Amino acid sequence: MNEVMISKDFNVRESDANEKLRLEPLSFILFGATGDLAKRKIFPALFQLFLVNRLPQSISIIGVGRKKLSDYSFQTHVKNSVYDYSRASNIDEIKITEFLSYFSYQGLDVTECDGYNLLLETVQTREEHMGIPENRLFYLSVSPEYVQDIARNLNKSGLGSTKGWRRLIIEKPFGHNLKTAQELNNHLVHEFTEEEIYRIDHYLGKSMVQNLESYDFANSLSRELWNSKYVSNVQITAIETVGVEERAGYYDHAGAIRDMFQNHLMQLLMMTAMNLPDNVNEDVIINEKRGIIESLRPLQKFEVANNVIRAQYGPGQIFNNMVIGYKEEAGVSNTSKNDTFIAARLWIDNSTWSGVPFYIRTGKRMKEKSTKIVINFKEDLNGLEKFKENMIIPHQVIITINPEEKVSFKINMKNPLTNTTEPLTIDFSSKSENVPEAYELLLFDALKGDARFFVHWKEVELTWKWIQPVLEAFEENLVPLHLYDSGSMGPEAADSLLEEDGFKWI
Ligand code: BG6
Repeated sequence: MNEVMISKDFNVRESDANEKLRLEPLSFILFGATGDLAKRKIFPALFQLFLVNRLPQSISIIGVGRKKLSDYSFQTHVKNSVYDYSRASNIDEIKITEFLSYFSYQGLDVTECDGYNLLLETVQTREEHMGIPENRLFYLSVSPEYVQDIARNLNKSGLGSTKGWRRLIIEKPFGHNLKTAQELNNHLVHEFTEEEIYRIDHYLGKSMVQNLESYDFANSLSRELWNSKYVSNVQITAIETVGVEERAGYYDHAGAIRDMFQNHLMQLLMMTAMNLPDNVNEDVIINEKRGIIESLRPLQKFEVANNVIRAQYGPGQIFNNMVIGYKEEAGVSNTSKNDTFIAARLWIDNSTWSGVPFYIRTGKRMKEKSTKIVINFKEDLNGLEKFKENMIIPHQVIITINPEEKVSFKINMKNPLTNTTEPLTIDFSSKSENVPEAYELLLFDALKGDARFFVHWKEVELTWKWIQPVLEAFEENLVPLHLYDSGSMGPEAADSLLEEDGFKWI
C-alpha cells in the first residue's frame, strides 16, 4: 500500500495557545500522596506544568497520606518520582529545588474527622504565609471506599468552607454499577456541587481525543461527512498487550466492561459522535455528549448475547514471550468468569447516526497496544473480488491515539504505472515531539477551572444505565464467555459480530 506523510501540529490546543494565562494562586491538597498514581502521573505532570510556566505564581501543594513523613522525606519522594517518571529530558537541580519548595506533607487517617483540624491549620498557615486566597483544590487519589468519608470530613472540619473557590477532583471507578454510582453521587452532591466536582477519565486528557472537539480539526477531517448518509460503520478499538498485572484484587471484580468500556470507550464514542457547532464551549460539549448517550439504543437483557461478546485470555505468546492465562494470574480465582475482552455493537438513534453501527472493542493481552477510531465510508465493495483480497478498501478516516498520534485517510487511487487501483494512505502526523501527557492537560484545566474534559455526572449515570443489563446478563450467564489466546486479536466471535453486518475489523 502506498503512503504519503504530511506533518501538522495537531497538539497545541487553540484555546491554550491564544489564551493569556493568569492562574489564580491556590492550595492543592492531594490525598493519596504516597500512592502509585501520585508517583507515576501527578508529580511528573505538575513538574512539567511548572517547567512550562503553567502553575500559578503562588501554589501550596500539601500531600496527605496515612504514613507519617516529614516535609523533607516527602519532598525527597516527590523528587524521586520526578526523576523516575518525568518526560523532561534534562532535570535541572535548581529548577527541581524550586519546585519542591511548594510541597509539604501531613499524615492523616482520612476516616477520622479529628485529624482534619490539623490539616486545616497547615493549609491556613501556608495560605497566610504565601499570600494565597482561600482557593482550594482537593485531589482524591485514593481507593473509592474513602471518597465519601473525605468529602464529608472536608466540610465538617471547615476545610471546605473557603472564601475563594473549591474544587474536588476524583478518579474512577465512579461506582461499580448503576446503583452504587448513584449512591456515591448522592453522597457527593451533599458536600460539593456538580460544578465543583471534576471526575477524571484520563482518555479525555489524551491530546488526540481532545482534538475531536476542535472545529478546525473537525473541518480538516471533512467531519461534515460524518453522518449516516456517508458513513457505513464506526469502529473504536482500545487494546493492550499487558495482562492484569498486580491488580487482580480490583480487576477480577471489574473486568474489561467496568475497567475500560463503561468509561474510556464510552467517552471515545461520545467524543466521536458529537456534532459540534462553530463556537464550542464547556456547556455545548456537555450537552452534546449527553445527547449522544441519551440516544444510545438501550439493550434488553435478552439481546445482550447477540450484541456483546465477552472473553478471557488464555495462555499464549506476546512479543515472543510465553505468558500465562488469566486464570493462572496471581490473585485470580481459577474458576473466574471475569471478562478481559469486550466487543459490542451499539446504535445511536439520532438524526445524524441512525442506522450506522458503532463497534467497540477492548482487551488485555492482545497482539498489540493500539487505540484508534476508524470511520468507514459507504461504498458497496462487497461483491468485488479485489475487496475480498484486500486490494481495494472502503474509504476510511483513521484517528490513531496510541501508540502514535496521527490521522490517516485511506482511499483507492489508480497507479499510473500498473493501471490498477490500489489503496493509498495519507497520514497527517503530529510534528510535535513535545506532546503533553494526559495528566498535564487535565491538571492544567482543573487549575483554570475548565471542566470540559472532565466527566459530567449525567454521562456517568447514563453510561451505567446502558451497561446495567449487560452486567446482569453476564452475572446470570446469559452470554457465553469465550477464550482467546494471549497475543491474538481476540475471539473469533468478535469477528463474527461484524461479519453478520458485512464488515470486518480494521
Ligand atoms: C486504565 C485501566 O484506566 O487504563 C487499565 O484501569 C488500562 O487497566 C489503562 O491498562 C489503559 O490506559 P492507556 O492510556 O495505557 O491506554
